[in-house]
Amino acid sequence: MFRALQLLIRKEGGGALRPGASAFAHGFSSASAPNSHSQRLAGKVAVITGGASGIGKATAAEFVRNGARVIIADVQDDLGRAAAAELGAARYTRCDVTDEAQVAAAVDLAVELHGRLDVMFNNAGIAGDLSPTPLGSIDMGDFDHVMAVNLRGVVAGVKHAARVMVPRCSGSIICTASTAAVLGGVVAAPVYPVSKAAVAGLVRATAGELARSGVRINAVSPHAVPTPLMMDTMALWYPGMGGEELRRIVEKELNEMVGHVLEAEDIARAVLYLASDDAKYVNGQNLVVDGGFTVNKQLNLLPAAGR
Ligand SMILES: NC(=O)c1ccc[n+]([C@@H]2O[C@H](COP(=O)([O-])OP(=O)(O)OC[C@H]3O[C@@H](n4cnc5c(N)ncnc54)[C@H](O)[C@@H]3O)[C@@H](O)[C@H]2O)c1
Repeated sequence: MFRALQLLIRKEGGGALRPGASAFAHGFSSASAPNSHSQRLAGKVAVITGGASGIGKATAAEFVRNGARVIIADVQDDLGRAAAAELGAARYTRCDVTDEAQVAAAVDLAVELHGRLDVMFNNAGIAGDLSPTPLGSIDMGDFDHVMAVNLRGVVAGVKHAARVMVPRCSGSIICTASTAAVLGGVVAAPVYPVSKAAVAGLVRATAGELARSGVRINAVSPHAVPTPLMMDTMALWYPGMGGEELRRIVEKELNEMVGHVLEAEDIARAVLYLASDDAKYVNGQNLVVDGGFTVNKQLNLLPAAGR
């Protein structure tokens, strides 16, 4: 095997394998060059639920910058219309994801306007009651509401995106989970993490079936980003604290990586990757964008005796 490789290198390159001079090195450098500022979604059509605000809005902007036409599907009509007008190649439609018919209609609107759907970003979500809640105090009404938006809404999005993508044997579905889907105790209230873990589970449970039809599905899992959802939660956790201080806590204390602040645009670029053909063989994954937060757990070591 190694001998065959040596012969192949001699034949292709006519000499010994030197750093930077092999066919591999040439292939590597040319493959890494394109796409940095290119139209990675040129001609593609996307639906983004929860696209009127925060991560969804930033993703709509990133998609349009990369050549996509976008349907913003949300329940905040004024914000959604303003975002669409600002972006140009975007259209707003009212869509409450808890109502399957409205999700189906958003997908159908994309097909009606542009003849196809290439990317479905199931991103609409709510926090529900994130005040510290022991298991025995879970409010089942809150549970039903959070699951209706964060899980049932995503299931409807996957179902109806697949309805139009599978016959074309093409498409990318992305669902917003969370670091709360990866770690059990990121927040001290179980309902939201349950809903997000279920989103990651949904992605895994459907990736195989979709792959057999040429469609991909992945999750993206952000850590704390100072969007309205996060800042409302912070205001609940730290009553009476000013907005600037709350934002500082999210950006500096809750996050892991020194020297960088996690922004909605960082999530948007991760979603762009999953949506684009750069990720053509990436399927069933959960792309965690957290600066390493979820992989950093230290032993609870007691101080050494006598210190
Ligand atoms: N911000 C964070 O720190 C963070 C971290 C992990 C995951 N997330 C997830 O990211 C996603 C986007 O949230 P965000 O942080 O951008 O917050 P956001 O509040 O800025 O955006 C959420 C959007 O979802 C929309 N929405 C809510 N209920 C809806 C419904 N029934 N139908 C349609 N749209 C609805 C809202 O109107 C809003 O525009 C959510 O799924 C959230 O759980 C956020």
